[in-house]
Order: sequence, then C-alpha cells, then structure tokens
Amino acid sequence: MTQRVRVDLGARSYDVVVGRGAIGELSSLIPDDVKRVALITQDGVPVDASSHLPGKVSVSRHVIGGSEDHKSLGTIERLCEEFAAAGLTRNDLVVGVGGGMVTDVAGFAAASWHRGVRVVHVSTTLVGMIDAAIGGKTGVNLRSGKNLVGAFWQPSGVICDTAFLDSLPEREQRCGRGEMAKYHFLTGDDLLSLDLDSRIARCVQIKAEVVGSDERESGRRAILNYGHTLGHALEIASDFAIAHGESVAIGMMFAAHLARALGRIDDARVEQHRRVIVDHYGLSVTVPAGIRRDQLVELMHHDKKAVDGLTFVLDGARGIETVRGVDSSALNTAFTALSVL
Ligand code: GLY
Repeated sequence: MTQRVRVDLGARSYDVVVGRGAIGELSSLIPDDVKRVALITQDGVPVDASSHLPGKVSVSRHVIGGSEDHKSLGTIERLCEEFAAAGLTRNDLVVGVGGGMVTDVAGFAAASWHRGVRVVHVSTTLVGMIDAAIGGKTGVNLRSGKNLVGAFWQPSGVICDTAFLDSLPEREQRCGRGEMAKYHFLTGDDLLSLDLDSRIARCVQIKAEVVGSDERESGRRAILNYGHTLGHALEIASDFAIAHGESVAIGMMFAAHLARALGRIDDARVEQHRRVIVDHYGLSVTVPAGIRRDQLVELMHHDKKAVDGLTFVLDGARGIETVRGVDSSALNTAFTALSVL
C-alpha cells in the first residue's frame, strides 16, 4: 500500500511515493520523452532500480564511493565525464539510488549537467526518505566544510520504499530517528499514534508543506534545521564520530534547554522533548566528555547560518522559529543542563 505526497511548487510540483513496494511505481515518475537514464548509486545499496525503469530507456550505471570524502567536486566532474560518454542529453534523466549522500550528489550532478537535467530520487534510508531526498537541496563538500557548494534543484519525483528499511543497519535507523524526532516539534501532531509508514508519509507531508512555502530558505524553511546548530558543531567537534542524526538529537535537547533559559517554553515542554527523543526514539542526549562548550561555541559561530551572532532555531509560543543573537548566559544555562563543561 503506497501513498503519494505532493510537493507543491507550481509547474515544478512533484510526487513523493511512500510505502512498501513504492519502487514498483518508479516508471510512473519517468517522463515519456526520456530515452536515457544515468543511474547513480553506491556499492552496497541493495536496490536494483533499473528493473523498475520503462523497458524503452537505455540505462548507464555510475557508482560513487561510500565515504564522505567522495561527496566532492571531483566526483561531480567524473560523473559528468561519464554522462558525456553515455550520450546523456538535455532531455534525459538522472536517477539517484541510495541515501542522502547519493541523492545530494546525484541532484547536484543533474543540476550541473547541460545546466540542468531532470532527476528522480530513489531513497533507501530513513534520513533520505524524510529529509534529504525531498526539497531540492543538493551539493558537495569542500575541504573547508560540508555542503558548501551546491544548488537548489528539485527532483521530478521521489520513491520512498519503506521495505528498504528492513535491512537498514541499526546505526542508520538511529540517525533516521534523530531526524524523525524533529517533526514531532514542528507541528502539534501526535506522530506517535501513527504506524511507521504513515509516520514517514506525514514527515514527508510536513517537509513538503514547508518547502512549498519557502523553497529557497529565505525564512520559514530554516525550521527544518531544528537541532542542527549545535548538531553541526558536534559532528565537527567529534570528527564525525557522532553521526548527523545522532548530533541533531542532542542539538534538539540543547535547543529545548536554551528555549527554556530564554523563557520561551516551560519545563513540561522540555520534558516532552526528552520523552520523544530519549524514551521513544532511544537516542542519547549526552555530549561526549572530551567536547567542551568553548569549542562548540566557536564552531557555531562559523555555521553558515550564523550571519548575525549565534543563530538558533528555537521552540516558543509561536512554534519553532529562527532566533538571532542569543546571549551567552542562556547558552551557558543550556550547556550546564546537558553537563557540558
Ligand atoms: N534538511 C533541511 C532542508 O531540506 O531544508
């Protein structure tokens, strides 16, 4: 049983197909005029998407490396050389099959090739399904930082086949739960009352609605970065030993304490964060002992969103919103609540 969630962007609107067996609907997302598909994936991605493409298209397969250092301009250059060798035209299509790294790279390669060809994502991880594959953020890393080069390039469709999650390693499941927990605080919805497939579909719907209202993050889309200000700093401070979703979980708990210190929410709401993040999703909110608050503050100042002092996405009476220029005494209270020295 699948459901379709529409990302409403006028002439660039598209469907996200969610549910067990969604891969069977891949061919319905392939525009009729496509003759060639460049399928980008990684070794170890256990999905054969090519057997679900229309028989009339010719398919070339392009494999990118597994580690984060392959999320690079060098990989984009190599892919584009391979597109040239495969004769991929402006009318053809890129299909990204994998987790967030694959769809970020495939999306950016599609945005760059011939100044933009269409792309469809087949997301195989929980983080990808509820976040990375939807909304058109694409890009690669530089030595100077993560995702510093990229483009907004919306896909023509996204497949989120929840059967792929059955074989997802526990750590990747945990990272997905970190991103999923975020959606509990973006709306008043009782996500816990939904089964996993319906919950994923609801997360996609929430993201689709936010992206539809602010595609290029000139304002509201920043709420999707709840927990990410401290989260990104933790990833870097731990040399990526703490993975993205795990860092976001700690970042959200920190954001809750910070909002409390600023008088924006009460103790009950802080406790609700703990219940969802720790009790329900089984995520840790402990900052490893070697990581100090001065180090985290320094890293947060270098965050690409920190345009005017420290910027956080915080909960409050008006819901989740961006708050600039947070003072150091509130920060210290929040660090103390998380036992960060
Ligand atoms: N991952 C946050 C966004 O897509 O805006």
